[in-house]
Amino acid sequence: MKIFIVGGSSGIGLSLAKRYASLGNEVAICGTNEEKLKEIKKNDSSIKIYKVDVRNKDELKSAIDDFSQGNLDLVINSAGIYTNNRTIKLSDKEAFAMIDINLTGVLNTFEAVRDMMFKNNRGHIAIISSIAGLLDYPKASVYARTKMTIMGVGETYRAFFRDYNINITTIVPGYIATDKLKSLSKEDITKKSTVLSEEESTNIIIKAIEEKKKKIIYPLSMKILIFIITKLPKKLLTYIMIKQANWGKK
Ligand SMILES: NC(=O)c1ccc[n+]([C@@H]2O[C@H](COP(=O)([O-])OP(=O)(O)OC[C@H]3O[C@@H](n4cnc5c(N)ncnc54)[C@H](OP(=O)(O)O)[C@@H]3O)[C@@H](O)[C@H]2O)c1
Repeated sequence: MKIFIVGGSSGIGLSLAKRYASLGNEVAICGTNEEKLKEIKKNDSSIKIYKVDVRNKDELKSAIDDFSQGNLDLVINSAGIYTNNRTIKLSDKEAFAMIDINLTGVLNTFEAVRDMMFKNNRGHIAIISSIAGLLDYPKASVYARTKMTIMGVGETYRAFFRDYNINITTIVPGYIATDKLKSLSKEDITKKSTVLSEEESTNIIIKAIEEKKKKIIYPLSMKILIFIITKLPKKLLTYIMIKQANWGKK
């Protein structure tokens, strides 16, 4: 298969890129950090690298077209930013970047491949949302809102892309022990039962894509927990979530 991973230079995306490449697929990744990309190329020369900002649709489309030469099986968008800061502590620059990368970046990914996939009458697009996006309450963060919105965006595109045999999988992970998540926590998060390793997450994502799942929410323990707490009155949910926002802080 030919697979392009947007935001594949670290964490969930890089873990997927390495696994797909090791299984004999042709894999390309993109990100904005040139040093990270070069380091990956040095360690795994089979992975093609592109320095692309997902906010720039033309740049993204050029990279995907260059790699695919009109023939792409799968694009995964794992590009996203998150911080420990609640919305009130975000600078306007951070808030705009979060919306541009996490939300517009997903739209750009759909748009960058649509003509090619329509022409080929086949393709698969996977986007990475978050369990944070399943919780609708007044003080939900900008991050959670971007992740909630892309779930809806995925459904909208699925309704239209279905006629062209294009599958869309929305990945909804709980905590995954990437370097980025670890850097945001003062605790050793790998000891928490609700935190999965990158490898465990990669297994789940690859299986969901193989099975052409529309949506996958994992791990199961978090899925059940979220199901229960979404039934709570909004005020109580808000209280719990604000307490939980200090997770990992002293
Ligand atoms: N880890 C978790 O617990 C968790 C849970 C739920 C959802 N998620 C979601 O999963 C995704 C990956 O998270 P992660 O933990 O793996 O984080 P990560 O290691 O920081 O990976 C983020 C990736 O996005 C890329 N990226 C960021 N801004 C970009 C831009 N403007 N243009 C292109 N690429 C850009 C980064 O590349 P550069 O640095 O090279 O730009 C990197 O490859 C995110 O969407 C996140 O919201 C993560």
